[in-house]
Amino acid sequence: MRFKERAVISERLWAQRARGFGETIFAEMTALALKHDAVNLGQGFPDFDPPPFVMEAAQRAMADASTQQYARGSGELVLTEIIAEESGHALGRSIDPTSEVTITVGATEALFAATLALVEPGDEVILFEPFYDSYPANVSIAGGTARYVPLRPGADGRWTFDQDELAAVFSARTKLIVLNTPHNPTGKVFRRDELEQIAGLCQRHDVLALCDEVYEHLAFDGKHLSLASLPQMWERCLVISSAGKTFSVTGWKIGWVVAPPHLSLALRRIHQWIPFAVATPLQHAVAASMRVAKESNYYSEFLQLYAGKRKRLMDALTPTPLRAYEPEGTYFVMADLSESGYESDVELCRALPRDFGVAAIPPSVFYGEKHRRMGRKLLRFAFCKRDATLDEAARRLAALP
Ligand SMILES: Cc1ncc(COP(=O)(O)O)c(C=O)c1O
Repeated sequence: MRFKERAVISERLWAQRARGFGETIFAEMTALALKHDAVNLGQGFPDFDPPPFVMEAAQRAMADASTQQYARGSGELVLTEIIAEESGHALGRSIDPTSEVTITVGATEALFAATLALVEPGDEVILFEPFYDSYPANVSIAGGTARYVPLRPGADGRWTFDQDELAAVFSARTKLIVLNTPHNPTGKVFRRDELEQIAGLCQRHDVLALCDEVYEHLAFDGKHLSLASLPQMWERCLVISSAGKTFSVTGWKIGWVVAPPHLSLALRRIHQWIPFAVATPLQHAVAASMRVAKESNYYSEFLQLYAGKRKRLMDALTPTPLRAYEPEGTYFVMADLSESGYESDVELCRALPRDFGVAAIPPSVFYGEKHRRMGRKLLRFAFCKRDATLDEAARRLAALP
């Protein structure tokens, strides 16, 4: 039997929820980048080494025979304790490391477990577009319905949402809003007044919030603020972060959720049936790394490093026909391709590796059907790359007509 026939027969046996998902765009673009030996500014992972103190913490944890068995289900206390200290500081309250912090397999598992724990069939979940691609997948697996609100760039280049448009998607069926700040892929950092509007709507409609803050240490202009730190919002929020971006170890997949006990408990009921517990030595390594970071200038040096890379990529895009929006946070730049002569993001993303030797991501995949056209005129570039990688990309992008 040929492979294709086998695939058709076996797909018939798949559950409907699996059939609905194609391969992610990242896999297609990474394959194209490899095929054409392109500089890959598509996927958001660093191509440089993690800091030495992080690698040393991992080596110490692996050498310690006492941390090689199953971890405590909701996370090793050394890690939940430092996370409680750090997030307590950010949220302006005291956080209990045993009942209010849960360690997950990256932010990805946190988002999945939280959505399954809170969303029932028929419930609606509000997502800003462009979204991180796992949000709508999680909502669909939970049997909920996603309602979308687009972010648009203003005349000043800053992305924002329309207040009335946001208010209009809240209803009696709304269970949850997912708020990612700093925001992938636009780089938007939500301001206090915007968070206050969202908080007001959550309270009025009795809605919970999943706060995805994996880029919490990458806010360049103005401070990152959590929705959970606003008055009366702690009780409604699950704050999600992870070590991957902050310590340049995306492969470790150590994430966490900080939430009040009643929401943490719901999350743990689902988490116990997904991984049960998360890699013990890596939890110890992240705990030790967070201690070092806290007691040194790591977080501000990390931000400085990325501010330099942001400038490098912005400078690289300036002479090209791609009009880049300077991000306020994260390690992504969105650029408008309207003046490039290409029709759509997908067309340009397929041509870029082949004809110019650079790979990017087409953002139309981060929109629902209704607003997809907004993404067609955009490209996303990641700048979590060595300066030499960014310079080589700049040299190649200069050839764009
Ligand atoms: C907005 C956002 N949320 C979640 C994740 C996933 O994080 P993790 O690798 O910790 O699962 C990413 C990774 O790119 C992200 O950009």
